[in-house]
Amino acid sequence: MKILRSVADVRAWRASAGRVGLVPTMGALHAGHMSLVVRAVREADAAIASIFVNPTQFGPNEDYASYPRREAEDVALLEKHAAAAVFIPPVAEIYPPGDATRVTPGSIAAPLEGAARPGHFVGVATVVAKLFAIMRPDTAFFGQKDFQQLRVLQTMARDLRFGADIVGCPTVREPDGLALSSRNAYLTAEQRRDAVALSRGLFAAREIWTRGEREPGVLRHRVRELAGKDGVALEYVSVADPMTLAELDAPADTAVISLAARVGKARLIDNVLLGMDVADLR
Ligand code: PAJ
Repeated sequence: MKILRSVADVRAWRASAGRVGLVPTMGALHAGHMSLVVRAVREADAAIASIFVNPTQFGPNEDYASYPRREAEDVALLEKHAAAAVFIPPVAEIYPPGDATRVTPGSIAAPLEGAARPGHFVGVATVVAKLFAIMRPDTAFFGQKDFQQLRVLQTMARDLRFGADIVGCPTVREPDGLALSSRNAYLTAEQRRDAVALSRGLFAAREIWTRGEREPGVLRHRVRELAGKDGVALEYVSVADPMTLAELDAPADTAVISLAARVGKARLIDNVLLGMDVADLR
């Protein structure tokens, strides 16, 4: 596996790589990230991951400084999963001195995480646009776990004519349902037990959906009943259109139920997609 640290390294590698499948990450890799790498290895000639804790997508009071960094373990995991290369740039390679250009997504980035984290999706769209410009992937793989991010990036790739296929992959979970996240590392043992309430709430809403319930207010209420436990401070529970992320005020054939919550020091997000599969979104 090639370890690439500069844009020039990537360009030289890219010239003979064939069809490239890209998995952008911020590292501290877990089985959720690896599920994307497995797809990229299977579906492209060469799978490349990037590891870059992107400063522009963190707010001033967020966890940029404390975000877990484990380069050696990450490189070993990628090697074991047969990635062809990994791009690990220093900050100045992505944001050179004087860097000033930003990619501003449209209304799809306004609600939910966009409302809770001002500027977050400008940072995400900007860094992913730079990664696409550097690596020119044929396909890029993103997790359903960050559903709004997936839709923001699918919309950006279409609007800016990147020509890359943006593939959404299902959320990988712990046996009890908790979505894998690098931020789960912030949880104490007790908080880890409390955090299962998030997926329980989402699964309970999915359960009544499969039995025919379509009223957005009823679905939202069901999530809150189970997810709003001691130790879990819900920030939002949303029932929205999966294409636009606009909040639903009437029954629909498809929906995404998303939530964000604080559990101890960790801010966690999760979602379930109803009436469609993440693989059908483009
Ligand atoms: P990061 O949080 O490291 O996630 C990298 C990719 O892994 C994202 O596409 C995310 O949705 C996916 N992922 C995380 N947990 C997952 C899980 N449990 N199951 C399936 N996929 C999962 O998301 C980012 O980094 C950054 O915002 C990035 C896109 C790299 C831009 O900086």
